[in-house]
Amino acid sequence: MKKDRMILRTPLPDRLCHWAMVTCFFLVAMSGLSWLFPSLNWLNGVFGTPQMARLLHPFFGIVVFVALVYLFIRFVKYNLPEKEDRLWLENVKSVVAGDHSKPLRVGKYNAGQKLMFWGIMGLICALLLTGLVIWRAYFAHLFPIPVLRVALLLHAVAGVGLMLLIIGHIYLAFWVKGSIRGMVTGYVSHAWAKAHHDRWHAQISAKAPGKKKTARPAR
Ligand code: HEM
Repeated sequence: MKKDRMILRTPLPDRLCHWAMVTCFFLVAMSGLSWLFPSLNWLNGVFGTPQMARLLHPFFGIVVFVALVYLFIRFVKYNLPEKEDRLWLENVKSVVAGDHSKPLRVGKYNAGQKLMFWGIMGLICALLLTGLVIWRAYFAHLFPIPVLRVALLLHAVAGVGLMLLIIGHIYLAFWVKGSIRGMVTGYVSHAWAKAHHDRWHAQISAKAPGKKKTARPAR
């Protein structure tokens, strides 16, 4: 479909940030898993050698954090709770059944995506804080052993929690056909926007009077 018949959903800088962050996230997650489960020890080869994994894991973790801070600044306004979210939550069964007949007044992101957004942001903050405490090269010597033990446990729990959340995020991204294309090309069709984010579609269509075919979202 031609771009002039599509809607810009995610501008290029946000897409680049998302995919660069995804690459770093996988490297950090794989090296982290390699230390958590002995059977996954082989994953510490993602950075070349196990020593490089130990060295680079925290730095790449910080890159993921910084990228998420950027995405937070860009997307937080679309992820604030709204009264319409209740309607989506009440009708989540029909959403899962793929029934889009009832208008659910969904904005740029639905209530489920908003929960995921805040979950990701909360867990990355927990990972950063606990990760700094247990970072042997720079900070770990500043803390007593019991604090390090608790921080290590919380770091592992938050890491596994974030990975599980991301598995759900990836599953849903593939399940809602057209959404990955939105994150790759930046554009979605009017039909997609209307079916999944009806209120957002109505808003941007209203902001582009006389330009039925092209609509840029308000930024
Ligand atoms: C292969 C892996 C991934 C895929 C295929 C994927 C796909 C997507 C897609 C399609 C969207 C746009 C959804 C929409 O327009 O409605 C999105 C948004 C987003 N993704 Fe991912 N993603 C992946 C990994 C990650 C990871 C690892 C993180 C964070 C650790 C992440 C964080 C986000 C955030 C914060 C948003 C914005 C959602 C919002 O503002 O509510 N993604 N992703």
